[in-house]
Amino acid sequence: MIVLGIETSCDETAAAVVNDKREVMSNRVLSQLDDHRPYGGVVPEIAARAHLEHLDRLVAEAMDDAGVDFADLDAVACTGGPGLIGGVMVGAMTAKAIAFATQKPFLAVNHLEGHALTVRLTDDVAFPYLLLLVSGGHCQVLIVEGVGQYKRIGTTIDDAVGEAFDKTAKMMGLGYPGGPALEKTAESGNPDRFGLPRPLRGRPGCDFSFSGLKTAVRTYLDGFPIEQQTAEVKADLAASFQRAVGDTLIDRTRNAIFEFMRDYPTGKTLVLAGGVAANKYLRTRLTELTDQAGMTLVAPPLELCTDNAAMIAWAGLERFRLGQHDDLDFKPRPRWPLDPEAPKRPGAGVKA
Ligand code: KG4
Ligand code: ZN
Repeated sequence: MIVLGIETSCDETAAAVVNDKREVMSNRVLSQLDDHRPYGGVVPEIAARAHLEHLDRLVAEAMDDAGVDFADLDAVACTGGPGLIGGVMVGAMTAKAIAFATQKPFLAVNHLEGHALTVRLTDDVAFPYLLLLVSGGHCQVLIVEGVGQYKRIGTTIDDAVGEAFDKTAKMMGLGYPGGPALEKTAESGNPDRFGLPRPLRGRPGCDFSFSGLKTAVRTYLDGFPIEQQTAEVKADLAASFQRAVGDTLIDRTRNAIFEFMRDYPTGKTLVLAGGVAANKYLRTRLTELTDQAGMTLVAPPLELCTDNAAMIAWAGLERFRLGQHDDLDFKPRPRWPLDPEAPKRPGAGVKA
């Protein structure tokens, strides 16, 4: 079984081909970072136009790299949401056109399901598992019971964790995108220098909050005249911030592990997914946590943590082999929760 995947929900234009032997036959990702850098964040209209300009070529390259023809495909999958709607529409129209022209089944994949199922492509992880999904738009903890079966047990009540990294890095003048820049700056810093809050620590449940942390960094920065914001101050602030994020994630995930182990005694895996999973410090902290709990931490390789189309092709393949597909009149969705039954939360948590 061979599936073409297309991803256009944010600022990466991507196309990939995977098969049911769990092989990534091709994986093309074009980052639009340079297009958005002057604005310090993703500009939706620029993103949509860039997807339109590059997607056809990327699909052709992905097919070429994989050495397959449209006739060899079993299905065509794209991100159907959640995401920036202009971009999602470009990807969905392209995938529908290919599916229609070649008479292949079409699948509109939930982008979050793409992140959620990637470890089954890379590490063949069995259901059920606990998933900590940490990206620029999301910070959620979910129990993955099966394809299309998710139970959200925690989410952010304000900023996503990647968003907190990006906003904090921007305030500190570390450039864009902020996550990797902040991690690098933190390497030489003293994490004990600045006392920062650990929002929601010690409270029951698995929800997250990061906006107070960002505000506390702002307050420290305001206390330093610009000429005193030396490389050392920035490194110490970055290290203190990163440790506070680590402590918060650990505290909330510990509660999630407790709930998961209680209700799903056969589950032994914590999966870390989304762009923030690329952070080495956070990976180390979470590995310590899973070691203590007698669980295993699995995180996809870096290039499959950040947005890509292999994860979309794979999620499409998983659904297709269960007999599912979507109609060509599928409407792209700016919002699309993995667990529609989960209680609503204010702030960024309602995005999906
Ligand atoms: O999953 P992703 O590529 O896109 C979304 O779906 O949001 O995640 C991007 C996010 C950005 O906020 C970026 O700053 C963050 O992941 N990120 C990191 C690191 N690398 C990427 N955050 C912290 N440390 C990193 N090394
Ligand atoms: Zn993503």
